[in-house]
Amino acid sequence: MKQSVFVLFLSCFCVIISADSFVSSNADAYGHLLTMSDHLIVRAANDQSSYAVMNLDTLWWNTCVYSGTTDEYIYSVSMGKSQNSSQLTFVAIGLIISTNTQFVRIINGIDSCAVLDEQILPTDTARLEHVVLAVDDSGQVAFGLSMGVFFVYDLLNYNIQLTNYSSIWNMTAWYFGSQPTWYPGFIPFAMAATSIDSVLVVGYQCDLVNFFCTPCAYYMTQANVQKPSTMPYLLLLPNELVYQDYPYYISSNIMNMAISIQDGRSVALIGLSQYDTVVMIEFIPTDIILIKSYISDVLGVGYGQSLVWLSNDTCAIVSLTRAISPWSVSRIEIVEFDSNNDMSAPLFTLPNSQQPADSSTSTSNILLVVVTHANLAILFGYSEVVLVIPFASASMSSQYLSFNANSIGLMQTTSCIPGTYNDITTVGPCKLCPIGTRNAGYSTISSCTACNSSSFCPLGSIADIPLDTVNNISQALAYPESPDSIIFDDILIQAMFSIGSTPSCILVSPLFWTVIVIAMALLLLSIVGILQLVRWGGKHRAVIVRIFRQTDLIGEGTLWMGGLMSFGIIVLVCFAYVFSNSFVYLYPIEKTNSVPFACDTTMRNAKFSTSLQLLATPRNQEEAPIFSLLDSQQFTLEVNFVQTLFNCSSLTIQQIIGVNLIQLPWLNCSYGDQIPATQTVSLTLPAHQMTLNFILGGPYYIGGAYVCLRGSSAASEGSIHFRQVLSFCQMFYTDNQTLAQATQINIQLTKVINRTTGLSPSDATKYTGIWIPTFTIEAINDELVYFQQGSYLRYLTNMTTFQVTFVETPFFIKNTQDPIARQGEIIFHNVLFTIVALEIFGLVFLIVKLTMAPVFWFIVAKIQKKMSNRVGVVEDNNDAPIDAGQNLEAAQKNTTAQPGVELNRLFLR
Ligand SMILES: *[C@@H]1O[C@H](CO)[C@@H](O)[C@H](O)[C@H]1NC(C)=O
Ligand SMILES: *[C@@H]1O[C@H](CO)[C@@H](O)[C@H](O)[C@H]1NC(C)=O
Ligand SMILES: *[C@@H]1O[C@H](CO)[C@@H](O)[C@H](O)[C@H]1NC(C)=O
Ligand SMILES: *[C@@H]1O[C@H](CO)[C@@H](O)[C@H](O)[C@H]1NC(C)=O
Ligand SMILES: *[C@@H]1O[C@H](CO)[C@@H](O)[C@H](O)[C@H]1NC(C)=O
Ligand SMILES: *[C@@H]1O[C@H](CO)[C@@H](O)[C@H](O)[C@H]1NC(C)=O
Ligand SMILES: *[C@@H]1O[C@H](CO)[C@@H](O)[C@H](O)[C@H]1NC(C)=O
Ligand SMILES: *[C@@H]1O[C@H](CO)[C@@H](O)[C@H](O)[C@H]1NC(C)=O
Repeated sequence: MKQSVFVLFLSCFCVIISADSFVSSNADAYGHLLTMSDHLIVRAANDQSSYAVMNLDTLWWNTCVYSGTTDEYIYSVSMGKSQNSSQLTFVAIGLIISTNTQFVRIINGIDSCAVLDEQILPTDTARLEHVVLAVDDSGQVAFGLSMGVFFVYDLLNYNIQLTNYSSIWNMTAWYFGSQPTWYPGFIPFAMAATSIDSVLVVGYQCDLVNFFCTPCAYYMTQANVQKPSTMPYLLLLPNELVYQDYPYYISSNIMNMAISIQDGRSVALIGLSQYDTVVMIEFIPTDIILIKSYISDVLGVGYGQSLVWLSNDTCAIVSLTRAISPWSVSRIEIVEFDSNNDMSAPLFTLPNSQQPADSSTSTSNILLVVVTHANLAILFGYSEVVLVIPFASASMSSQYLSFNANSIGLMQTTSCIPGTYNDITTVGPCKLCPIGTRNAGYSTISSCTACNSSSFCPLGSIADIPLDTVNNISQALAYPESPDSIIFDDILIQAMFSIGSTPSCILVSPLFWTVIVIAMALLLLSIVGILQLVRWGGKHRAVIVRIFRQTDLIGEGTLWMGGLMSFGIIVLVCFAYVFSNSFVYLYPIEKTNSVPFACDTTMRNAKFSTSLQLLATPRNQEEAPIFSLLDSQQFTLEVNFVQTLFNCSSLTIQQIIGVNLIQLPWLNCSYGDQIPATQTVSLTLPAHQMTLNFILGGPYYIGGAYVCLRGSSAASEGSIHFRQVLSFCQMFYTDNQTLAQATQINIQLTKVINRTTGLSPSDATKYTGIWIPTFTIEAINDELVYFQQGSYLRYLTNMTTFQVTFVETPFFIKNTQDPIARQGEIIFHNVLFTIVALEIFGLVFLIVKLTMAPVFWFIVAKIQKKMSNRVGVVEDNNDAPIDAGQNLEAAQKNTTAQPGVELNRLFLR
């Protein structure tokens, strides 16, 4: 079984070897074809048989054709990243195809790329195309590993030291015919120099009996390659040893590996893109230790295709096939490691919205990233384009593609855009200003400044915007409730017979004045009594008694004290007439003055009811016009995108009709005119029920959306039906977030109709109507997404959409206002009140008479007795013996009269 697999493998293997052309559209089919120092960048293109070189200091660039032209194939190029500006050389390893000769060369990276030195490498007949090359940082030594040899190439003295590969790793000979073919126990895939005399090399360690391989790292020094048994090595997937069939290694793209060594530390990261795994190791001269493995959250994306350390705790890791639409089909995630070597969620990715790659690269996978102290370079596969991103210092960011020649694009650092800041040296985008701070942008300050405490200042703020410029406006008001009593008689009686507690209430209280009048009557009564007692002014007393008896309404002219009470009744009734006549005009409540003689100034002649009714029910002729007035109201929508950089040129407004998108024009669009850092757009809505999409293209953010809906007033003929002005404004935002990339707001419109019945039957019923918008929010921020998936997603948007949906609710609110008392009924109520007042006073009078009179009579009788004993005067009685005074007199005359008889007389009257 194994044998047959092997035979199958051998057959394709031989095809590869015997191919006489190495032309590949893939930029790193067999090795790393991009290298960079702080001053020079070199890319080899085998399909064009040329190197593209560019001096990063002078931006001088050239395309040098390979010295052997199309007869050469370059596996890898390399350079020390710290090579200085006078060491503009690089190392290339390749093959002369016609003679099957492998070479390694030192090439001058200026002019036409002259070869400074060349060494021919021993070449086995069987040769895997896995040739790896690494130059130490200072550019002094190049290390290489191919099937035939491990070499150490002194770049200063131009001499090479070779070690037979098969003396390091066992080779196995297989006979294909009579020729032995040698297969190695280790296939190298990536190499990095750790110093001028040691390298880490990663590849596949193979079981030569079964022809299965597993990822493995070796730490090679000039000394230990002579004694292979002392060479430290580590199987990289120890927990789940993954073996793959040997034939897989023909295709290097599938099995790619990457390695990067951290500056100044013995720590390296190894990318195993086949397994979507990155492994962190530590190496010491005698051992390699596994620190941690990190597996991608999404599998099958070629995670770890290439990786580089950017600083001592951040690293850029390429996922070959994980797209960042619309810019790239691969992504570079920049992650951070904490002190426990745990990997953070991506801090940001490349490309991103602030740093989009060139459109020519959008369909090319990212194969390789290379870093120096000043720049990060990205090699895109299919297009063979190189993008160089300089590290930007604080307050800056590399954003604009400034120079593009020879397929090498150079980004330029520029100040952070408004609303963002950068406080570190980074290849990434500027970060959003935190909550409560702002940045007007284009400054050299590396932090955001604090906002005024009364400002609307969410994440990514640009300017100080006072909160009161974005006030919510709503016309929705609670409809009044009917008063406790909606029967006019009750209201009248309550108003007449109540005395408030405050001085002003007491002053307007009818009862108060009635009591005053009655008190005066009592005073008179007392005067009459005193007059009688002193037997003086009998004439006056008689007149007064006669007057009161004439005015008696209670005792029908029979009691003079009833007359006194009647003045009270007259006062009360007068008040009642005045009150009723002003009360009836306290209608409708929209047009009322204050009420005289009432403590409760909020009193109105109106009762209310509110109901929800279905729009579907047919309308009668009387109310139909108000519905058509409301339906015909034209809405103007104004949307203010607050704290944003989006301007009118980035805006498209679409109406969604079924599956179609209709572009709508706007009436007005301005940026920063009414509110700073705000885009204001207004448009006339073509309908009341619709969905609108505001599409804002660009890498910007929106702090909040201030949405206003307006409509004009209108009246029907005769002003019976009146449509009110619509004025609704609502600010949509979350305190500490920007608006979501796709915010959805639903606005429901409800008709509210006030029906006001006329005061008199001849008055027409009036209708007023208004639209009351209410809203629900479907998605207003992406906080949860950022929390779960990482806030780097924030920097991946090229577009923000704001969707507003208008719908009409299927019901309307009907408010009805009716008068409690109508004009014609007032007289009737007043008469009724008079009768009631008489009844009440009659009752009060009776009670007073019953309870007070006997006591009073008794006391007076006692006094009179004493006085008559002393004076002996008897007054003649010319009045009918009917009233209380008469009783007293009778009692005085007839000392034998029984109190019980007198009481009876009083009572009967
Ligand atoms: C560059 O480095 C070489 C070797 O270290 C040194 O001789 C040379 O002076 C340096 N040149 C510059 C400009 O620093
Ligand atoms: C390496 O060693 C093998 C076996 O010992 C030998 O056949 C081969 O020629 C040697 N190659 C070189 C380049 O020395
Ligand atoms: C290489 O061959 C030697 C001698 O035959 C053997 O002892 C050793 O185990 C082999 N190593 C590997 C990795 O197969
Ligand atoms: C990285 O270097 C900085 C400054 O040199 C240091 O403060 C920080 O602790 C280092 N981080 C790690 C993980 O070593
Ligand atoms: C806050 O705003 C007011 C009015 O715009 C301004 O006068 C004041 O200086 C601001 N305060 C701060 C701390 O910026
Ligand atoms: C944003 O990306 C979408 C999807 O690829 C693309 O169609 C659109 O043109 C881009 N918009 C902008 C403003 O770049
Ligand atoms: C947002 O603000 C609220 C209130 O200030 C706070 O409770 C919440 O934790 C904040 N959320 C974030 C992600 O900062
Ligand atoms: C209805 O009446 C209430 C109470 O007077 C008022 O607040 C509201 O504005 C009126 N609505 C309409 C549509 O006239």
